[in-house]
Amino acid sequence: EWTPGHVVDDLVGAIREQVGEDRVLCALSGGVDSSVAAALVQKAIGAQLTCVFVDHGLLREGEAEQVEQDFVEATGVDLVIVDARERFLAALAGVTDPETKRKIIGEQFIRVFEQAARDVVHDRGDEEHPVKWLVQGTLYPDVVESGGGEGAANIKSHHNVGGLPDDLQFSLIEPLRTLFKDEVRQVGLELGVPEVIVWRQPFPGPGLGIRIIGAVDAERLAILRRADAIAREELTRAGLDRDIWQCPVVLLADVRSVGVQGDGRTYGHPVVLRPVASEDAMTADWARVPYDVLATISTRITNEVEEVNRVVLDVTSKPPGTIEWE
Ligand code: XMP
Repeated sequence: EWTPGHVVDDLVGAIREQVGEDRVLCALSGGVDSSVAAALVQKAIGAQLTCVFVDHGLLREGEAEQVEQDFVEATGVDLVIVDARERFLAALAGVTDPETKRKIIGEQFIRVFEQAARDVVHDRGDEEHPVKWLVQGTLYPDVVESGGGEGAANIKSHHNVGGLPDDLQFSLIEPLRTLFKDEVRQVGLELGVPEVIVWRQPFPGPGLGIRIIGAVDAERLAILRRADAIAREELTRAGLDRDIWQCPVVLLADVRSVGVQGDGRTYGHPVVLRPVASEDAMTADWARVPYDVLATISTRITNEVEEVNRVVLDVTSKPPGTIEWE
């Protein structure tokens, strides 16, 4: 009989057997998969695990705190936080091409993680118990998809922690590789992973960096972060989180339009709401969010985010539109 409790017991046993006394490393992204994988390994081998969280500055409001505080509190993991915000901003300065952005973010991520991994190996490892394993939150559909070779998945270069250099020779532990997403969520709840993380909607590795159309800078990130937080808050308040697959909010940073507020003319930026309904992100339809919810989001964003004077709705299915704009 499938119960999350049985699954946890089985996987914990398997991880213990696989790892023995070795030390293990995990890159935490704040997403469901890496969080549940980390919590599972933590349950299995406790203090032998160190998690690394790279704050690249492209996160949404509250996300770093959820990992740094709530997740650590709930699971007790040993967490190394790397503040790489300046470094990512510097690397992205002036870059507008979507694939170039993705490539830069992916490369920087690997470099920062690599350095953190070396530091952990140095600080936490010892001769007898070297850091030998890297946890990955690979799910069953990922296993199937990557076996499928080329296809729709390669339209954009997706970024996960892969491609680590040869001198960091880790073997992979993929404790979730037999599970589907809904099973991972049940396992996460069983392990006490905070609900905000367990029920988190998909969020791309390159984060807000690919939701600013135009060059990424700190000011634009701050604008988008506020608009995004409002949209998420209202969708949650309306009880739509589980009906909607995700709702990217996109800042058209190089576009301006004329507006009016009070007696004054404004010349601000539009943001796009991109709510989608989907089963697996391979295809999607635009989600029919009730008009009153859209109205509230629009009013709040234009009232509360000074630089934004227009909110528009993306009503394109996938295909032809992808879910993200870049
Ligand atoms: P697209 O835009 O290709 O997105 O329709 C499909 C799904 O994948 C997410 N996405 C990513 N996830 N790294 C990720 O981990 C990425 O580079 C990436 N790019 C897109 C997107 O949010 C959607 O759920």
